[in-house]
Amino acid sequence: MENVMRNFFLFLSKNKFLTRSAKKYGLRFGAARFVAGETIEQAAAVIRDLNEKGLKATIDYLGEFVDNKKEADQMADNCINAIEAIGREKLDSQISLKLTSMGMDISDDIVMANMKRIMEAAKENHVFVTIDMEDYERCEKTLQIFKQLRLEYDNIGTVIQAYLFRTLQDMKDLDEYAPSLRLVKGAYKESSEVAFPDKADVDENYKKIIQMHLLHGHYTAVATHDDAIIEFTKQFVKDNNISNDQFEFQMLYGIRPERQLELAKQGYTMRVYVPYGTDWYGYFMRRLAERPANVSFVLKGLLKK
Ligand code: FDA
Repeated sequence: MENVMRNFFLFLSKNKFLTRSAKKYGLRFGAARFVAGETIEQAAAVIRDLNEKGLKATIDYLGEFVDNKKEADQMADNCINAIEAIGREKLDSQISLKLTSMGMDISDDIVMANMKRIMEAAKENHVFVTIDMEDYERCEKTLQIFKQLRLEYDNIGTVIQAYLFRTLQDMKDLDEYAPSLRLVKGAYKESSEVAFPDKADVDENYKKIIQMHLLHGHYTAVATHDDAIIEFTKQFVKDNNISNDQFEFQMLYGIRPERQLELAKQGYTMRVYVPYGTDWYGYFMRRLAERPANVSFVLKGLLKK
């Protein structure tokens, strides 16, 4: 049953009609639990509050699968707007973005021009940029663009998904770039030809890449809500004398907020991924796909109205 629900919400997450309608009608159906608002001012207020509680942030202007230059350029402008807000308001925040929203599906020239504009603004404002990883189809291209930008900029990182078979090789290939990586299980619906179908295998591979990246001395963001993985990481760094400066934990806004505070209080760097913007629909559907409890939360909210 859980798998059927997961596939259903992942299917819905790609529906273009619903994506467009959601933009028109504003944050609905309990999405505000996972999305910090529709404007940068609302998102900045959420980040300020997190910072006051000892949590760091990475802000994400929501948007994906953009298919025209005008929209891609606007998405890049919005990212720059967020970077400038971080600088101006001295927020303890990085930014995260998706290359499909910067024009990756349109042309190499458009995505690179937008990324260069963003990276220059980020450099000026001392803001770190993480390129989110999207579906398998875009993985190779995303890594290529990351590598190209990494040669020019220090303040850039990307994401590696434990569920992909290619991941171990990708980590080896990335090693020479000394990359700062966010390691995740993976959120998209992928075929069993390219990704581990069993959760236990994903978890094993996840542990493997956490160990590998830490032992190679690179900065590692362990982005998960899974206590087993968090405890594994804590023990591993302790056993190997790896300092708290070499890694951090990351979680999504609205998910396990008490655990986020607890980890920060224990002295670990805890970063919260804070999405905002009008294009919240696909992100929200993926959060529902991850956990049936999130769906019942939404249904309860709907019944109350
Ligand atoms: P999983 O979903 O397996 O959950 C494991 C356990 O965590 C559960 O059994 C439960 O104990 C606990 N848990 C989970 N949710 C909970 C909740 N709501 N309340 C209480 N307990 C809960 N993916 C991707 O493909 N590309 C990307 O760029 C990113 N970026 C990203 C950034 C950040 C900061 C995070 C945290 C995650 C991502 N992801 C991502 C998403 C990631 O791939 C994955 O889909 C989700 O994090 C869910 O997987 P978990 O590792 O949390 O474990």
